[in-house]
Amino acid sequence: MPAAPHLRLGVNIDHVATIRNARGGPHPDPVRAARIAIEAGADGITAHLREDRRHISDDDIARLKADIAKPLNLEMAATDEMLAIALRTRPHAACLVPERRAERTTEGGLDAAAQHNQLAPIVARLGAAGIRVSLFIAPDARQIEAAASLKAPVIEIHTGAWCHALADARSADAEAEWQRIRDGAGLAKRLGLEVHAGHGLDFASAETIAALPEIVELNIGHFLVGEAVFVGLAPSIKAMRAAMDRGRAKAAA
Ligand code: PXP
Repeated sequence: MPAAPHLRLGVNIDHVATIRNARGGPHPDPVRAARIAIEAGADGITAHLREDRRHISDDDIARLKADIAKPLNLEMAATDEMLAIALRTRPHAACLVPERRAERTTEGGLDAAAQHNQLAPIVARLGAAGIRVSLFIAPDARQIEAAASLKAPVIEIHTGAWCHALADARSADAEAEWQRIRDGAGLAKRLGLEVHAGHGLDFASAETIAALPEIVELNIGHFLVGEAVFVGLAPSIKAMRAAMDRGRAKAAA
């Protein structure tokens, strides 16, 4: 059976900036974390410039773009302000995410179906600038079809509901959420979309999802930075790479 494509690991360094911002000084520097992540095997760096700048700052994005040797994936809300920053910075990729000020993290996927008219010009302008656009959406057929009709080349499947169900021993939803991810990844691939996934992944869930051959990139942040407190950032990332490689070995293209 043919081998599944290489599964890329995008390391999200937002929460290095969260720790830095707790004291207001320069330490720990997310750009230093990005360099260590790349040395440890990350295929790219992901950072979310939020409207409220609660973790990553504009200066972090400029320094990441200037300093890192691997692709930068800018997570951003679909707003005029963020579009201008993306067009100025020219990251390799831009992942459009929904954003609400009161949320602790990105809680749900984009409603690409309902926001078609708002998203269309932003997807088009990013794409025309050579930036690879992905839409962060739930694994629902309606959203995946909307992403295809918006001509976004990539979707990132929101794995939060699945990971949440896995972590809750009383929840019976994990199997249903897993089925949604499998079906969604298959549909997206058939529609010609490149499929990424992320949110809430840890070693076990990353190993499981790595077995889906349609998925070519995982974006992982909070767990890796949390684990780094105990083992260091490079060992945390290397252990994730190993978990993904174990899972990938079970995948058939
Ligand atoms: N992908 C997207 C689009 C996200 O918004 C996030 C969270 O910022 C992640 C991946 C990473 O999620 P986590 O930090 O839970 O690993």
